[in-house]
Amino acid sequence: MRQIVALGSLKGAAGASTLALALAAAWPLGGAAAPVVVEADASGGDLAVRFGLSDMAGLLALAAGARQPGAERDLESCTQEVAGGLRVVVAPSGTDQALPSVAEVAACLPVLRGDAGSEGTVLLDLGHLGAAPSRELARAADRLVLVARGSADALAHVAARPEWLEGIRPELAVVGKCRYSESDIAQALEMERDRIHLLPWDVRAAEAFAGTARVTEGRWRRSPLARAAFILARRLAGADAGVARGGLCGELAQLGSRALPSQLLGGSAALRSLEKGGAQ
Ligand SMILES: Nc1ncnc2c1ncn2[C@@H]1O[C@H](COP(=O)(O)OP(=O)(O)O)[C@@H](O)[C@H]1O
Ligand SMILES: [Mg+2]
Repeated sequence: MRQIVALGSLKGAAGASTLALALAAAWPLGGAAAPVVVEADASGGDLAVRFGLSDMAGLLALAAGARQPGAERDLESCTQEVAGGLRVVVAPSGTDQALPSVAEVAACLPVLRGDAGSEGTVLLDLGHLGAAPSRELARAADRLVLVARGSADALAHVAARPEWLEGIRPELAVVGKCRYSESDIAQALEMERDRIHLLPWDVRAAEAFAGTARVTEGRWRRSPLARAAFILARRLAGADAGVARGGLCGELAQLGSRALPSQLLGGSAALRSLEKGGAQ
């Protein structure tokens, strides 16, 4: 069965998707299959647009088949590969489709866990943990990583510890500028010091995971975000995870100046005019 490592935030766009992809690129493989990033963001996904992928093949398809016999073998067929070899199951962009899909997956966990022969890890990107099914999935995961920015007001949302988190000992990834040390945060939030992880603000690496910049494998490995992600990935994968041999191969991100995917232009005049003007 696959292990599930969930990531989510208690407020705003803290950087959950970027961290999920960075962890996938840094995951210690030790002979096992590369992790799959499953974007299960109830407020709608971003990865399909960022990487120009079809959102029909991802979470929507997984949820549609979740109650069918053999659904525990569907994850692979709903997975798409992006440059760098990262494997992703993308969420639909709109919440009207995303929320019911997340609810369906939460009700049918074997679609993520797989069967007895399934190996590896699902990095479950839940986005903002506002909806009930997102919280249900966060509770059901083997590990939970709360993602928050490093300001006092952002950390206060973690300190306020919503009731549904009771009994769970999450890791806390603090993304970007933070004037507090890990020990300060641990003390203030009454968490163990080794559960707090400071992640750097690294525009270049983050842009690659947003599909807007190219980064070679070598450059990624030397980036501040990669160094932090390697450490966190090893911790999440467990002490016996073997050598830190990341899942990334070749060049990351293929978008660059690429046009918006045609299926997204649809009837949207705003998107069409953006397309004509070129990406800024
Ligand atoms: N560590 C980081 N360094 C620089 N920019 C980041 C970092 N993490 C996220 N970002 C940027 O912040 C924005 C939101 O990040 P994203 O991962 O999409 O958040 P979420 O999935 O929580 O909504 C994106 O533009 C992303 O490139
Ligand atoms: Mg996201």
